[in-house]
Amino acid sequence: MAKKRILTGIRPTGLPHIGNLEGMFKNCVKLQEEFECFFMIADLHALSSEYADAARIRGNSLEIAIDWIAAGVDPEKHHIFIQSEVPAHSELFAVLAMITPLPWVERCPTYKEMQREIKDKDLNTFGFLGYPILQAADILVYQAELVPIGEDQLPHLELTRQIARRFNNLFGEVFSEPEAKMTKATRLPGVDGRKMSKSFGNAIYMADSQEDTAKKVMSMYTDPKKLRQGDKGNPDGCVCFAYHKIYNEAEVGEIENSCRSGALGCVDCKRSLAKKMNAALLEQRERRAELSGDLKKIESYIRKGREAALAVTRETMQRVHKALFGS
Ligand code: TRP
Repeated sequence: MAKKRILTGIRPTGLPHIGNLEGMFKNCVKLQEEFECFFMIADLHALSSEYADAARIRGNSLEIAIDWIAAGVDPEKHHIFIQSEVPAHSELFAVLAMITPLPWVERCPTYKEMQREIKDKDLNTFGFLGYPILQAADILVYQAELVPIGEDQLPHLELTRQIARRFNNLFGEVFSEPEAKMTKATRLPGVDGRKMSKSFGNAIYMADSQEDTAKKVMSMYTDPKKLRQGDKGNPDGCVCFAYHKIYNEAEVGEIENSCRSGALGCVDCKRSLAKKMNAALLEQRERRAELSGDLKKIESYIRKGREAALAVTRETMQRVHKALFGS
């Protein structure tokens, strides 16, 4: 039996950080054992919010490919590609946009949230409103059965299913409804305790040196009531402790106890975390450095991904044309 097909995407709006690594890339590495995977660099989606600074998008796209591969995705067996290089995404987007009622996109919670939160960019564009329709096109054009996403993306998947149903009702069965493959989210907060994001300046990157990593760890937000060693601490809500849970599983119980009792001070706690993190990320960072030195190879993987994407999407678009126009 053919393997089920997966499609997932990430926007190249900046360097990938360890939040992306733990929350998404590692999951992709697991999924590739079982599924045929299309890993998409969503540069058109990036354009919807970064159009004023579009020149950076290409460089960021390559960085994403590098980190995806450095994390362990196999670009020979699976397909890493760039959305804008596969025209079917835009073609199907145009078709789906014709049949999607405006209220479906206007009520999308992600849309409202971005409009509310992002003040330094003008997101009052037609394309930004259509963001989830483009995402629906991404998914449906691969006939992807499963879509690995975090919880924040569920409204987009639901909308995708609605649009697929509407298309099928109007023009006949072309699309099956994709399912979310929810990732057990490993959520890493930024060093200041807010959501990790390049725009908050609180992210740790795979591209960071060991020294940078240690510096960022030393600046982490911890229990504000614990001022010196000896003070009893509360690990709940402490960023450093959240990271120990991921990078120092073996000692996390001990750390919790000695934090609560006061025996462990924050400086020592952070030092030991920095060491563990740098050790855990070492291999990957070495691979990333090596891959960064061979951009030709990265480009060739992306070309290969594009070929596979073109072949699959061409087939879907033929079916779409047939359903719409009879040939
Ligand atoms: N909207 C997704 C995000 O911001 C990125 C994305 C674009 C995506 N197209 C997709 C994810 C298709 C899954 C499937 O994370």
